Amino acid sequence: MGSVHSPWCAFALSGTHLTLPVAELRASLEAEGYSYELGEQQGRVILVEVDPQGALIATRRSGFVNYSMQLIFECPMKKSEILRAMNKVDFHLWLNNSTRFGVRVTRIHREQKQLDIEELQGKIGSKICRAMKGKVRVDLEVPEVLFLGLITTARFYFGIFIAARNRREFNKRRSPLRPFFNPDTIHPKIARAMVNLSRSGSGDMFLDPFCGSGGLLLEATSIGSFPIGIDNDHRILWGCRRNLDYFETPFSGICADARNIPFRSQSIDAIATDPPYGRSSSTRKSDIATLLKASLTELTDVLTTSRYICFAIPLEHYNESIIDSKEYSIVEEHSVYVHRSLTRHIVVLKRK
Ligand SMILES: C[S@@+](CC[C@H](N)C(=O)[O-])C[C@H]1O[C@@H](n2cnc3c(N)ncnc32)[C@H](O)[C@@H]1O
Repeated sequence: MGSVHSPWCAFALSGTHLTLPVAELRASLEAEGYSYELGEQQGRVILVEVDPQGALIATRRSGFVNYSMQLIFECPMKKSEILRAMNKVDFHLWLNNSTRFGVRVTRIHREQKQLDIEELQGKIGSKICRAMKGKVRVDLEVPEVLFLGLITTARFYFGIFIAARNRREFNKRRSPLRPFFNPDTIHPKIARAMVNLSRSGSGDMFLDPFCGSGGLLLEATSIGSFPIGIDNDHRILWGCRRNLDYFETPFSGICADARNIPFRSQSIDAIATDPPYGRSSSTRKSDIATLLKASLTELTDVLTTSRYICFAIPLEHYNESIIDSKEYSIVEEHSVYVHRSLTRHIVVLKRK
């Protein structure tokens, strides 16, 4: 499986969307400059050949990757096969005589209900102790090395835990918990995915030309980009500044029209935006598709060549004709159901 240079890592994906988790993972690795190769996917687990440091960074950046591990082996989902495969592992590669280790086996999406997880964890732990001649210590609270087993319907994946998404951090930035509340704002998890899809890297100049109360800007800051927001409403821009100040985020906010942006040519590295829907947020009587088309035309000048824009638009307003195919190529599209009367269509463009 793959070359000997880059190990395989397994990623446990969120089950709340079919295509966004893998798309976001790929975009995050690209944004951070890691080369990778996608391997097989079993439900919500995907294998990727990538440097574990890249896996760590991508997991921490992500809205839709729950956790990641460096793969040691995979086998059919049968207790006898798992224990047989375990006998072949040389645990000295990861443990020494004083290492404190833990084992956690987890079901992905409630598979294999009949399996006794506690018993399997115990058996794996005993095998590791025996292989190390009893010189390692089990520590389930703060292990130095955490072995992870992921159970899917057909396969079992075993490896060393790398990182988990910090759910608590996301929840802290939810709209009702910010000092300035705006009903139009998108959930931090989707906002983070959109920033990742824009391939914004740390230190990059990130622009949201319809910034509202700053949901996307907050996520861009959290991954180390420098946030710039444009909104044509003074009051909302003031609220956006309050929200960013509250999270101690440096920010440049400009009250301007997204169809007339006062920036130098090629001065922006990445763009993600969620223009007004013409429901609660004001479109100032301009149809959303027309507004977005005019803004995309303006953005061709400010966005650096070969970089990305990610935008969201209600599905019923989306029409490929808003995209100038001479200036942009369409990289990917994802539809996200929000409620009965709103499905957001997320589109990623690459500046030619
Ligand atoms: C849907 S909200 C953005 C929500 C934001 N993404 C968030 O998560 O908080 C759209 C914003 O676009 C602003 N807007 C409307 N027309 C605009 C224009 N022509 N130029 C710039 N901003 C505009 C509105 O004032 C509104 O705050």
